[in-house]
Amino acid sequence: MSDNRIFAVWGSPSSGKTVTSIKIALELSFIKKNVIVVLCDTVSPDLIAVLPNCNTYDKSLGSVLSEALNTQEQILQKSVVLKHNPNISVLGYLHGENVFTYPQYSKERAVDFLILLSHLADYVIVDCSSVFTSDILSTVALEMADQVLRLGRANLKSISYFESYLPVLADRRFNTNKHIKILSNVKNNEAHEKVKEVFGGVSSIIPYTEEIEEQYLSGELFHQLKSKGSNQYKQIIKLLVSSLIEKDTTNTKKPNIFESFISRMGGKKM
Ligand SMILES: Nc1ncnc2c1ncn2[C@@H]1O[C@H](COP(=O)(O)OP(=O)(O)O)[C@@H](O)[C@H]1O
Ligand SMILES: [Mg+2]
Repeated sequence: MSDNRIFAVWGSPSSGKTVTSIKIALELSFIKKNVIVVLCDTVSPDLIAVLPNCNTYDKSLGSVLSEALNTQEQILQKSVVLKHNPNISVLGYLHGENVFTYPQYSKERAVDFLILLSHLADYVIVDCSSVFTSDILSTVALEMADQVLRLGRANLKSISYFESYLPVLADRRFNTNKHIKILSNVKNNEAHEKVKEVFGGVSSIIPYTEEIEEQYLSGELFHQLKSKGSNQYKQIIKLLVSSLIEKDTTNTKKPNIFESFISRMGGKKM
């Protein structure tokens, strides 16, 4: 069993949590790992934006969480396996859903769910809601994750967010001193050195990258970055991923359960 299997990506609103979760998942898939990406946002459900061309109509994270018990099979049925990259499977909320669409689930339910996911894939990446206080799965992921990536922007709004929400995670079980702090989507004109100080140092600076913005707008974030201008970004994600998995010394890759599930379903990828 590897040491670092659940990664939670958390941070201020619009800091790049979803983009970074996806790019980390892609990087892991390039080294032949299976990854489940869990998109927790119920404020602006992500599936429509990040996989606009996939058939996701009955595949909601909400329905998985509101069922009393799940088998691996039921979870796989509700996840979207990428056609062009079957090492990646995505769970998220659907277009039009909101926090009232499904019945409340318990904290225990969320814990069991994350444990189940960790048995299904080599890595689970939970893209947490900034407003984790209204999302049990995000709160549980922040507590259970082997690594938490804390993303902030180099601006006052982001500083303001952490002033308000870091104290909510003061309890020792959240281990905030272990968070990997990252400045994200940093533009040349931003005072990132100043903000770095305010954050008490950061371990990575992810630069603003034009091709990311284009991929975001065209719903193609799950595709590889190709332009020369993205090289620095790619290098930083690569380094980040190798530091995340450096404790994983087992090299025992799980069989790709997504693919075998699809072939049992008659070869229908989404
Ligand atoms: N490194 C980056 N370069 C360029 N644009 C970025 C980068 N990271 C995020 N963005 C942009 O910032 C916006 C917010 O990103 P998103 O991942 O949706 O944030 P969050 O999930 O934290 O709300 C999107 O428009 C996205 O394209
Ligand atoms: Mg997001």
